[in-house]
Amino acid sequence: MKKFYIFLVVVLVGIQFIPLEQSSPPVQYDLIAPTDVKNILRKGCYDCHSNETNWAWYTKVAPLSWLTTGDVNKARKKLNFSDWGLMRASEQAKMKEEIWEEVREESMPPWQYRIMHPSTKLSIEEKNLIRSWALN
Ligand code: HEC
Repeated sequence: MKKFYIFLVVVLVGIQFIPLEQSSPPVQYDLIAPTDVKNILRKGCYDCHSNETNWAWYTKVAPLSWLTTGDVNKARKKLNFSDWGLMRASEQAKMKEEIWEEVREESMPPWQYRIMHPSTKLSIEEKNLIRSWALN
């Protein structure tokens, strides 16, 4: 048993040295929206859907870092508020509808994120603000 724990520690230390890129590219085309809407999105979405990810300490520790970095990369590819201004107006309108859908169904932010950030569970008022912004 003791050998196994030594092995485990060696592996856990060893995987910390596997290189992993956690990027924070410059923000050039950030979303422009009313302050109250923007604050909700900033609080609940920007860690994954923008270039302004706050890489918390546990996102630096393998193997959790692999999961969180993968999530951020996937999320930015689908929707990146830092590139919002690069989308055509029609694409923005469609994306807003998708945003409302995710918020209404409570599929975003994802549950594993909400465990770490309980305050990002949206209240009724916050949801209403998102809805009236997204569906106008
Ligand atoms: C922990 C990271 C994380 C947070 C925080 C987060 N998302 Fe996401 N989001 C993802 C990932 C990952 C995907 C891609 C899912 C996939 O490809 O299966 C995604 C996809 C989406 C999509 C696209 C859905 C699609 O299938 O095209 C929308 C819209 C979205 N998120 C909105 C939001 C909104 C709005 C918030 C904040 C209220 C938010 N997300 C917060 C990780 C996150």
